[in-house]
Amino acid sequence: MNKSFYITTPIYYPSAKPHMGHAYSSIIADFFARFKIIDGFDVHFLTGTDEHGLKIQRAAEKRGLDTLKFCDEISETFRNLSKTLNLSNTDFIRTTENRHKLSVQNLWKQLLKNDDIYLSKYSGWYSVSDEAFYSEDEVEEFEDSKRAINSKSPVEWLDEESYFFRLSKWEKPLLEYYEKNPSFISPQSRKNEVISFVKSGLKDLSVSRKSFSWGIPVPDDKEHVIYVWLDALTNYISSLNYPDTQDNMFKKFWPASIHLIGKDILRFHAIYWPAFLMAANLPLPNKVYGHGWILSGEEKMSKSKGNILDPIEIINKYGLDPLRYYLIKEVSFGNDGNISQERLEDCINSDLANNFGNLCQRVTAFAKKNCDGKIPDKIEFKEEDLKILDRFKNNLDLIRTKIDEQDINFYIDFIVNSLFETNKYFNDQEPWKKKDDSVRLNTIVYTTLEIVRKISYMLYPIIPESVLKALNIFNIKEKDIIFSTLENHNYFKANLSLKNIDILFKKVEKKND
Ligand code: ME8
Ligand code: MG
Repeated sequence: MNKSFYITTPIYYPSAKPHMGHAYSSIIADFFARFKIIDGFDVHFLTGTDEHGLKIQRAAEKRGLDTLKFCDEISETFRNLSKTLNLSNTDFIRTTENRHKLSVQNLWKQLLKNDDIYLSKYSGWYSVSDEAFYSEDEVEEFEDSKRAINSKSPVEWLDEESYFFRLSKWEKPLLEYYEKNPSFISPQSRKNEVISFVKSGLKDLSVSRKSFSWGIPVPDDKEHVIYVWLDALTNYISSLNYPDTQDNMFKKFWPASIHLIGKDILRFHAIYWPAFLMAANLPLPNKVYGHGWILSGEEKMSKSKGNILDPIEIINKYGLDPLRYYLIKEVSFGNDGNISQERLEDCINSDLANNFGNLCQRVTAFAKKNCDGKIPDKIEFKEEDLKILDRFKNNLDLIRTKIDEQDINFYIDFIVNSLFETNKYFNDQEPWKKKDDSVRLNTIVYTTLEIVRKISYMLYPIIPESVLKALNIFNIKEKDIIFSTLENHNYFKANLSLKNIDILFKKVEKKND
């Protein structure tokens, strides 16, 4: 049986159309998913939309639409974005689907049965925009209204009957779990804020609302709907057919390998979700990774602030793969980052067109002319060839480890350095001067083609569509890309005819060039 890997993005609120921040999370998740696919794992990759709660109900009212119709429409734009971004997701979940409702109501019953839920009354602050409860010291007077200090979202006072989850009971088990699983909350820089929040004392959590109806009804009490975060978080297991824990999907993919999220929703994923799971006697995910924000100026790009950049516009202008490459390389993973079209253009011109595209073009053109358009036969590797080829063999396990640590910088640096060294190798070896030493000429061409193959495999999780164009030189198809063959220096069948290569990346003309 293959090893399994389960990665999730947040399920996004369909309160407005998606923006660059959503595209970012989804593309990063796709990067990890595709790496694992070609590394021989069975991958489940889940994304979707989070459709209940007052925030969505109010957004629909504002548009004068029936709430479900409104959700249908905007959820579809998120589903389409997944396709536009070329995500390899294996499921797209909507919390308004029946399969999800059943899971949530079952989880509720489980919590109730284990005495983790009781009826009482909630009085306190609530932010509809964040769908979050805040204590008195988490809100402040801000110009003319009360707002949450962290998110700057307006809060309103609630006073209503509510079911509560005994979160306080899980304070110690949570702290013990963080202690025993030091990379559960990643990156490390985010861990302390969570731990100190838990240590400051957890209050029981209000998990139902009575004053509106757009949600999943509490089993046996139709006056209440389940709190949208208890509803939403459950998507990660409803996709695996929970409550059927004997189901193949559940057995194979739970616990999740990684929940990839933005740092804005860390508290829900690193505190509430594991507490719900412990209370239901279910295993906890291996990791919650809270990445940084795509900024707009100094601020977080967000639907509610309206300061958004539309990924579709950028894709129409530059193409999808350049955007994917840029987001994965230039936003230092874990930290906040800005989108700079200038830097994006630099990535296209120097990394993609010059370093990668040009290398592919150059070596195939040379082989067409000097090796009869074929993968050369009769080769004898020398030390300088093996040195550059062995880079991949020698680093394969390290690359795998770095991926499991989400060290995207390492991965990208490895590729950029390999491209640099390969271009240098081809120049330094001067195959055009070896026309009377066909074995040497053949070996240089073979080596360079072999590295084009290896680098292409490594680039596949980042720019899949362009890589498939490049690999078409060798008639290698998507299903043939297997990461472990990076160890193999004699992958090609000798005398295989090289196919023509399409232009991979068009250079962008820059004003100051
Ligand atoms: O919070 N930079 O949905 P949401 C980077 N439905 N990532 C960003 C971003 C930005 N400026 N803006 C959004 C919700 N994101 C809940 C989640 S999960 C069970 C429920 C990304 O539509 C990032 O991943 O507000 C962030 O955590 C998520 O979108 C929030 O999306
Ligand atoms: Mg949000």
